[in-house]
Amino acid sequence: MELNLDNKNVLVTAGSKGIGLATASGFHKCGANVTICGRSQEALDAAATKMPGCLTLTGDVSRADDIERVVAAATQEFGGIDILVNNAGGPPPGLFVDLADEDWDRAVELTLKSVIRATRLVLPHMQAQKWGRIINISSTGVKQPVPGLTLSNSIRMAVLGWAKTLANQVAADNVLINTVCPGFTQTDRIAQIFEQQSAASGKSIEEISAALAAQIPMQRIGRPEEIANLAVFLGSEASSYMTGTAIQVDGGSVQGF
Ligand SMILES: NC(=O)c1ccc[n+]([C@@H]2O[C@H](COP(=O)([O-])OP(=O)(O)OC[C@H]3O[C@@H](n4cnc5c(N)ncnc54)[C@H](OP(=O)(O)O)[C@@H]3O)[C@@H](O)[C@H]2O)c1
Repeated sequence: MELNLDNKNVLVTAGSKGIGLATASGFHKCGANVTICGRSQEALDAAATKMPGCLTLTGDVSRADDIERVVAAATQEFGGIDILVNNAGGPPPGLFVDLADEDWDRAVELTLKSVIRATRLVLPHMQAQKWGRIINISSTGVKQPVPGLTLSNSIRMAVLGWAKTLANQVAADNVLINTVCPGFTQTDRIAQIFEQQSAASGKSIEEISAALAAQIPMQRIGRPEEIANLAVFLGSEASSYMTGTAIQVDGGSVQGF
């Protein structure tokens, strides 16, 4: 299989840790020119040591001016963006009754408008060269709601609807838009959730992790690289007849057909 990622220009937003970092590293290993952004300089510096030549930029994807600055700097360094991976931190958990308008507004900026803004900036170059890939990192919550993740389950569906609609509008320009839906994946985010649950319940982190794994058909939590592998494939030449899809990588968790 030919991935043809050598010298392709990739921007992975929120790419300094977890699934974003694994995806950036996957593209980097395949010879792509990689740019990542994140809010913490420390995390970006640590990521850069694993990816020589990678461009790292501070930026908060929920801020329009930060996204503009990141895309402009990546374009200046490497040329136009050929592959955009839209990733961001997840919106906070919460039950509907506990969420105020401001919580919804913040989640829309973080999860929906970040993706729209970054895509708007990179799309003209992709359309002009008749080649582009846009990959959204979402969640299995778009296939089956995750209990308590009211903001995430809701707003990620808006991203999915947007992605499918735009995929139709730009398919003839060979710009392909697909969505990766991770299940539980061992990242800092999950480690923090386990720590909170451990403090609240008195159970050990190992017990909490084992109980979660027991609910997954494959009996284990995923690794970031296992999510990244699909993102890198979707960003490559090898995915040339795929657009508008949403594919889960979840050890078999989602039960719908
Ligand atoms: N892990 C899972 O089990 C799982 C399952 C389903 C879906 N997801 C989704 O997948 C995405 C990535 O999750 P993860 O587990 O890889 O998270 P993670 O390990 O916490 O990493 C999040 C990354 O995003 C960056 N980031 C967070 N907010 C940002 C912002 N506003 N602007 C720029 N960068 C930002 C972080 O760096 P800074 O903090 O320095 O900004 C970090 O590099 C999230 O949307 C999450 O909801 C995760």
